[in-house]
Amino acid sequence: MKALIYALPKAELHIHLEGSLEPELLFKLAEKNQIKLAYSSIGELRKAYRFDNLQQFLDIYYLGAEVLQTEQDFYDLTWAYLLQCKEEGVVHVEPCFDPQIHTDRGIDFGSVINGISRALADGEKTLAISSFLILAFLRHLSEESALQTLAQALPYREHFKAVGLDSSELGHPPEKFKTVFAKARQLGLLTVAHAGEEGPVEYIWQALDLLKVARIDHGVKAFADQALMQRLIDEQMPLTVCPLSNTKLKVFASMSEHNILQMLDRGVKVTVNSDDPAYFGGYIAANYMALATALPMTIKQLKQLAINSIEASFLDAESKQQHIDKIIITG
Ligand code: ADE
Ligand code: ZN
Repeated sequence: MKALIYALPKAELHIHLEGSLEPELLFKLAEKNQIKLAYSSIGELRKAYRFDNLQQFLDIYYLGAEVLQTEQDFYDLTWAYLLQCKEEGVVHVEPCFDPQIHTDRGIDFGSVINGISRALADGEKTLAISSFLILAFLRHLSEESALQTLAQALPYREHFKAVGLDSSELGHPPEKFKTVFAKARQLGLLTVAHAGEEGPVEYIWQALDLLKVARIDHGVKAFADQALMQRLIDEQMPLTVCPLSNTKLKVFASMSEHNILQMLDRGVKVTVNSDDPAYFGGYIAANYMALATALPMTIKQLKQLAINSIEASFLDAESKQQHIDKIIITG
């Protein structure tokens, strides 16, 4: 099973680049940029990575991201993630980034997106990993701030394919961002949104109806709503599920309680992703492995998850078919 997990061509569709900042790089950048950390060693920092909910994680994640300052820092962050993808058989990525974390502390938007985009372009050239970038808005901030961020991003329009919505879910429903998402769609951007991670199913309905998303990030709460489940199945609406994130943030008490395989068997287009791999105990292969270990996952289910990851991507039909043909013959 492990060898097959690594060998299958896979896409990763839900990963926050700032969440791939490993403690080693975090310390290195802190030293270089002369930033004083609240932790005296990498070991001490790792020990702080224990969370009871999403907000506890976000508080540490936003602090960690402050060590990222220059265009080269964003390049190095993205490049390290792509090297890991190469190790694990990932052939296509659609990572997101949170520009407001950086611009709100005075970092130039261009440095952020140019560093990331340059690494993604190098990844395509030298690692044969294709990519589309997603610009995410922080939902705990105002819609006005999201609108300003979208305006700031327009000169870099060719560097991103979609907009997303992340950060503290409870109390910040998708409807708060109706106008900025409509504007993004008018500009030809695709849309995705975190919904039903910690928040109620109502937020998933809103993401579909009001934000007109092409995918739901997480969405695991949908399982409790039969009408919503039927809609996800009928529309083949992808869910980008993140198993290790869900157990680390206590969305599920244990991996054996995770509903992803039940959703898969019902015909929902679920995919496996790492969310914030540096904080949650591993990259995409670790997420597949965690499922294979805790649940009776069959090879057929594993291959379907890999096929779903390609089908749910923003790749064109021909590229999708090429990857899927390889999945079918692998193993
Ligand atoms: N930002 C980074 N990781 C996140 C998550 N799991 N949910 C919401 N916002 C996030
Ligand atoms: Zn996420």
